[in-house]
Amino acid sequence: MLMFVLIGATGTVGRQVMDLLLRRGAEIAAVTRDPAARLPDGVRPVVGDPSRPDTLTDWPRRTGGVLLSPRAAGRATGELLALGAARGAERAVVLSSATVRHPAGHRRFVEEFKAVEEAVRLSGTPWTFLRCADFDANALAWAPQIRAGGVVRGAHPGATTSPLHERDIAEVAVRALTEDGLAGRAPVLTGPDPLDQRDKVRLIGAAVGRTLRFEDVSPARVRQTMLAQGLPEDVPDRLLGSLADHAVEAGPATRTVEQLLGHPARSFATWAVENAAAFAG
Ligand SMILES: NC(=O)c1ccc[n+]([C@@H]2O[C@H](COP(=O)([O-])OP(=O)(O)OC[C@H]3O[C@@H](n4cnc5c(N)ncnc54)[C@H](OP(=O)(O)O)[C@@H]3O)[C@@H](O)[C@H]2O)c1
Repeated sequence: MLMFVLIGATGTVGRQVMDLLLRRGAEIAAVTRDPAARLPDGVRPVVGDPSRPDTLTDWPRRTGGVLLSPRAAGRATGELLALGAARGAERAVVLSSATVRHPAGHRRFVEEFKAVEEAVRLSGTPWTFLRCADFDANALAWAPQIRAGGVVRGAHPGATTSPLHERDIAEVAVRALTEDGLAGRAPVLTGPDPLDQRDKVRLIGAAVGRTLRFEDVSPARVRQTMLAQGLPEDVPDRLLGSLADHAVEAGPATRTVEQLLGHPARSFATWAVENAAAFAG
């Protein structure tokens, strides 16, 4: 039987894709670096590091489609798809970024996504690039501050994007993995509502039944705090670069999710209610 190989299976989107494919009775191979990763029953682990494809010795013999996280695959993208092609892979679906089409933030991060897309194009496997806006789930980074008190400290309060629910991304990804209609397409996926950072904090407050406040602090202080928490420099660079640009010009807002799925894109308010437990004190 053909198997779907998920590179980035244990991530925010990968877990949702696993769930949707399992409901369809599909066979799934989940690539993970963690031999103890908790995977749903019936999912076959492929333990190894996707950035070193030679470590993926359990790659299934017959591959249907490949879901690819650029963060996990990076420079190994071409090699990973060659592995898939040798085992019959019919489709590759990439969780790319809206910044490829609507540049924002530091150039080098946009270039990373472009390089992965280019490697997939060159692979010869029919592809779909899902160019995603920022995920609703990025707001989980605020959870410790919200649990500890009623204030979220951050930079660029007016930075505006239309954040995207992981379930919607996964639904589109499963369409692209299982049907031909999205081959050769690169839709820009966004959520339904342009929101700035204060809006998001307010909506999380409504979901948890508390009044929360966004406090504007300088980008330099945000950066310092993140580095003091032990985060690598790339994390504040990635975040602050795009927030600065989206404070000047809002990120894209499309209706592609609704057009592709036939139901409205899920709102950030919905996501906040579903994830309220993560923010509760
Ligand atoms: N967050 C956003 O706003 C946003 C917006 C647009 C696009 N994207 C892209 O969407 C893709 C999917 O994101 P996601 O949040 O679902 O999951 P992700 O960050 O891609 O992580 C998925 C899994 O990849 C594995 N992994 C392997 N090598 C890794 C590495 N060097 N760094 C981090 N993880 C690694 C980890 O699993 P194991 O530990 O089990 O190996 C991780 O759980 C990413 O490529 C991201 O760049 C994100």
